[in-house]
Amino acid sequence: MSVSFYLPELELENPKSNRDEIEERCAELILSDEQLREVCQRLLVEINRGLNKDTNKEATVKCFPTYVRELPNGEECGKFLALDLGGTNFRVLLIDLGPHVFHMESKIFAVPQSVMLGPGTGLFDHIAECLATFMHENQVDVSPLPLGFTFSFPCSQEGLTKARLATWTKGFKCSGVEGEDVVKLLQEAIARRGDIKIDVMAVLNDTTGTLMACAWKNPACRIGLILGTGINACYVERLENVQLWDGDHDDPKQVVINTELGAFGDNGTLEFIRTEYDRTIDQHSLNPGRQLFEKMISGMYMGEVTRLVLAQLTREGLLFDGMGPETLFEPGQFFTKYVSEIESDKKGEYTCCRQVLEELGYDDASDEDCANVRFICEAVSRRAAHIAAAAVACLLNKMGQKHVTVAVDGSLYRFHPHFHDLMVEKIRQLINPGLTFDLMLSEDGSGRGAALVAAVAVRIGGLAAR
Ligand code: BGC
Repeated sequence: MSVSFYLPELELENPKSNRDEIEERCAELILSDEQLREVCQRLLVEINRGLNKDTNKEATVKCFPTYVRELPNGEECGKFLALDLGGTNFRVLLIDLGPHVFHMESKIFAVPQSVMLGPGTGLFDHIAECLATFMHENQVDVSPLPLGFTFSFPCSQEGLTKARLATWTKGFKCSGVEGEDVVKLLQEAIARRGDIKIDVMAVLNDTTGTLMACAWKNPACRIGLILGTGINACYVERLENVQLWDGDHDDPKQVVINTELGAFGDNGTLEFIRTEYDRTIDQHSLNPGRQLFEKMISGMYMGEVTRLVLAQLTREGLLFDGMGPETLFEPGQFFTKYVSEIESDKKGEYTCCRQVLEELGYDDASDEDCANVRFICEAVSRRAAHIAAAAVACLLNKMGQKHVTVAVDGSLYRFHPHFHDLMVEKIRQLINPGLTFDLMLSEDGSGRGAALVAAVAVRIGGLAAR
């Protein structure tokens, strides 16, 4: 096993240490290369089932063609509006693109939980209201500007400006939206207000935006990956491999595929690595039985997986002398950012760890407790990084191109101190000989990418493609 965990000397010297037992209890979270190769292989099967016309209907990894076929070349110009909906915040952006430069104004609006779980009309009215406020404030409400709409949920696209929501994920559950075209719902909400005009040029997933934002600078970029509240990846696929493709076969004979690989495992194929903790998370989620891969990795769930392990081992008397902070036993109280903070302590120091435990209401953690808490955080986050790496390796092997840049964005990737390195190390071990790659942080793909998709549509006369 190539995984090595930090073992403070203290514990090695302490005969009463619970470490051995804790390690034993966490062994199921530590995946061998063999298991990760199996994850890669099974994901490839699922992706191919998604791409294949005959199997797509039952496939869990849907592999939606995005209708984005041209990548930016850095020459795109103009002013664009972008909307970005995909997490707890909603953003409106005004982007001024020039050759190889851009300027951006943006405003963040909260999406209250009541809106996330209420009727769809309420959600789209809220979006339209935020958009109108922003357009008035920035005085771009006179003539319609082209707009790119980043809508980061699984959608079956029927064109660059038509996307039917397949199912909600990530804590959203608005009624009356599943099965509907979200661009139409947006336009209807705007029409209900009557005070602004927009020209929707494209609807896209955040993975596509991330890919586009990176490809603008780096032509080797062929994969977009989000590791944030949710997880997902898109990649550039040859048209001949996309049986579902219903558009023309002109050049470029490629299309960006939104894999929606967060749903990998929803047919039981990941049971060989799922644990009781994963099952508990799933049972208590808004979408039981769905997004099982996402629930093992993403920021929305990773803190909770960690909490469940910590709580269980405390109950068993292995941590905090069996009496940890009460908040440890309350769902949702251990955030993914805590995992990042705890793991950012230098070896042998527990400053952040103690701060987090104090925030949870526990003031007298011993060094041994802190070391064990860190060990558990590492076990959970390494598992996440390693299976995310397996997913990337699967795509790289499938594409078989000599060198591919993977554009990555998302809070988990950005803020976890070791996620990048853990992924790079593991991808290297899992890819086929002769292939090389790099993981590049793609700054603000959801916003800039939306403008770029809209801009490319304008550049190639995409109005007709709509
Ligand atoms: C959604 C994807 C999205 C990902 C990252 C998932 O829950 O299904 O569409 O790309 O989250 O935001």
